[in-house]
Amino acid sequence: MDQSGTITKTKVTGLPGDGIGPEVFHATQRIFEAAAAPIEWEMAEAGAEMFKKGVGTGVPRETLDSIARNGLALKSPLETPVGFGGKSANVTLRKYFELYANIRPVRELPGVITPFSGRGIDMVIVRENVEDVYAGIEHMQTPSVAQCLKLMTAPGCERIVRAAFGLAEAETRKKVTCATKANIMKLTEGMMKRMFEKVGPEYPDLAQDHIIIDNCAHQLVIAPEQFDVIVTSNMNGDIISDLAAGLVGGLGIAPSSNLGDHAAMFEAVHGSAPQIAGKGLANPTALLSAGIMMLRHIGAFEAATKIEQALFITLAEGKNLTGDLSPRGHGVGTDAFTDQVIANLGRSSNLPSRDYKKFELVAWPDLTAHTEPNTRSLVGIDVFIESDLSAQELGQALEAIAQDTPFRLNGISNRGVQVFPPTGGQTFLVDHFACRFMFKNPIPLNASLANGQPEISYLVQRIGAKFTWMHIEKLQNFDGKDAFERPQGEG
Ligand code: NAI
Ligand code: MG
Repeated sequence: MDQSGTITKTKVTGLPGDGIGPEVFHATQRIFEAAAAPIEWEMAEAGAEMFKKGVGTGVPRETLDSIARNGLALKSPLETPVGFGGKSANVTLRKYFELYANIRPVRELPGVITPFSGRGIDMVIVRENVEDVYAGIEHMQTPSVAQCLKLMTAPGCERIVRAAFGLAEAETRKKVTCATKANIMKLTEGMMKRMFEKVGPEYPDLAQDHIIIDNCAHQLVIAPEQFDVIVTSNMNGDIISDLAAGLVGGLGIAPSSNLGDHAAMFEAVHGSAPQIAGKGLANPTALLSAGIMMLRHIGAFEAATKIEQALFITLAEGKNLTGDLSPRGHGVGTDAFTDQVIANLGRSSNLPSRDYKKFELVAWPDLTAHTEPNTRSLVGIDVFIESDLSAQELGQALEAIAQDTPFRLNGISNRGVQVFPPTGGQTFLVDHFACRFMFKNPIPLNASLANGQPEISYLVQRIGAKFTWMHIEKLQNFDGKDAFERPQGEG
């Protein structure tokens, strides 16, 4: 409310989207209006129609400008057309606005019967949304070997970990679990685990634990009620958040938010459901729930709870549910369900709304993130070579090449397993060898980062005269610690 006593409305970019999108969007708008939610819509376009008009990203400039201005969007599903247009419009929006925190609440809903009903599942999955293998940095290394770079960054880990702790506090939750594959990927996944352990003590009121992601998937099915907030990297989170949504009734009811420093976008987890589009059959629960998350995001807690309770009681009473939630096909259409939610505004269900407080992401300084260790040195290089020689032949050839250089051949690995010197293991070979050369004397880099360049050029030139190399990785040591992993089987 402003000083004159009128309710100030927050402007939101509305994207009705494709397929069932306009139907569930309209339903959400009607319920918001009936509940006097303090929102003013600025409607915009994105998705299939835009691809057809030749907008390659699926998101026209006016839409980006609208979201940038308002900092808020409620988005219906956008189709990723097959055949024309390339990138997904959803991914365009997430990356353009650096919406790095994907928040996916998973709560058992009254009246939505699943094999897990009655166990009180109520958790939030906080998924890192822009890094990891989803950066999409891929290269063919040889005609038969593909590579995808899994980039995880310290600031990327820190901000998602802080988002999880901040959210846990705002929702008065008790525990945050970090789920990673740090046991295998010690540097990338391990970075998230280490960041979780570093930042965690700043939140002494929250219980904290770490779980290996595959066991997390197992525990989500065996004992899902143990989880409260789970924070995880992009690919892990993609998979377990769908799994978790499945525990409470599936995609038709699952909402999510995508938060960044400059914008927040709220959406259903499901897609455009082309099979039922235009028939008035879609369940608007997921998008409506995303809208409720948005109301809480802007601090409109009262309107959020009012709508949430009307939704809960509508589901609990089981009258006028859409087909996907009705046993034996006695479902009603989107409009009748929406009417029922509107009729229930002002009533309370047996399932109380959680006690929410305002939650804001920690703002990051707008500069290139850089960390400088106290000491750094160059200890060697990995040269990735394409060859159809045996490991033994290649090893002997490279040992000869390294003679009279400042390097010695430390070993060769194939898909991460040491194959030279031989270990006796049974390794299937492909034409892509990682050949590790160590400096006979490590080179300090603090004095000049250019140190080591002539030595590397000399070695690579000698290798290149005989072999096709694909890429080179420097092997560094930061603050006395090796900044690289060893292949499987290295002694
Ligand atoms: P989908 O989520 O559209 O459909 C999966 C199944 O769930 C279908 O049987 C569908 O009828 C049902 N369903 C989904 N939402 C429903 C609702 N609200 N009410 C009742 N039933 C519902 O997934 P699909 O078929 O893989 O994708 C269709 C299109 O949606 C594709 O073009 C895809 O790229 C896009 N998509 C967009 C997303 C987004 O905008 N965030 C997310 C996922 C897919
Ligand atoms: Mg997914």
